[in-house]
Amino acid sequence: MDRPPISDLPVISRLEPPTSNDRAEQLLAPCGIDIWIVSLAHAMRLVWCHPDDERDAARLAGHRSAARLRLRRTAVRSILAHYVGCDVAEVSITRSSNGKPTLNAPRIPFEFSATRTRGFALCAVARAPLGIDAEYRRCLPDAGLLASRILTEGEYAAWQDVAPAIRAERILSAWTRKEAVLKALGVGLRVPPNVIEVGWAPRSTIRWERLAAEYVLTARMMPLWLGDVTTRAELVVALATKECPSAIRVRNWHSPAEPALDKFRDRQL
Ligand SMILES: CC(C)(COP(=O)(O)OP(=O)(O)OC[C@H]1O[C@@H](n2cnc3c(N)ncnc32)[C@H](O)[C@@H]1OP(=O)(O)O)[C@@H](O)C(=O)NCCC(=O)NCCS
Repeated sequence: MDRPPISDLPVISRLEPPTSNDRAEQLLAPCGIDIWIVSLAHAMRLVWCHPDDERDAARLAGHRSAARLRLRRTAVRSILAHYVGCDVAEVSITRSSNGKPTLNAPRIPFEFSATRTRGFALCAVARAPLGIDAEYRRCLPDAGLLASRILTEGEYAAWQDVAPAIRAERILSAWTRKEAVLKALGVGLRVPPNVIEVGWAPRSTIRWERLAAEYVLTARMMPLWLGDVTTRAELVVALATKECPSAIRVRNWHSPAEPALDKFRDRQL
């Protein structure tokens, strides 16, 4: 039988399945950061909660605290499921001995950090290590005591020079910046906040020398980019990242634009 000329053969192009890097590229620019805001104002009845989170919730004394833990942890898992491209029940999170949670998905290049304050939980997702911390904007009757405990000597002197009306705001700002750095490093408050100089410049870089010598070894990923982020008027939020962010998107977890993330929420209690 005569073969058709090569030019008449159909061209079969094989479409490779997207790799995890392709997926990461589609969801987040290399130095982009997504900050998801979860409202905890009304604790939701969840139809599903991961057994690890259920166990931690069971350890909490109050029913309300337990309900909030379930909601914020399930929200974090469903946010991560969105990036991984899997079912929320398949999201695996491991915790270091210092309590730092890490997404356990070897080929997926996403990192996350979480925080909660009063009625909100925040989850920041990036492709490089990061830390986020939020505090509810409020008056601090014990501002002086707090300042003496958490600020470095240099910060404390600068703080005393600012007008009394903005002192509480400055403390909240320094506190969130320090916790964001400590979370990015994964050490948490095992490193006292008064050994890290964060200052109040809107954007700054924390370098090795700024940490007290005994903690330098824990600071493997220095220098860190550090900045304040505007999310909601009632929140003071700071972000520490390995890479200077190219763009920061603030997103609502319950947004109707993301109906898939809503499927594990039931009616309000
Ligand atoms: C990190 C830390 C400062 C956060 O405290 P906080 O201000 O009360 O809490 P926030 O709401 O801002 O953040 C809580 C989130 O931080 C994250 N986190 C906890 N420990 C962390 C660490 N070492 N590094 C980075 N992130 C951490 C978790 O996502 C946690 O959310 P979860 O409670 O749902 O797991 C505090 O938990 C800490 O100092 N931990 C380290 C101390 C330690 O070793 N504890 C033993 C835990 S096994």
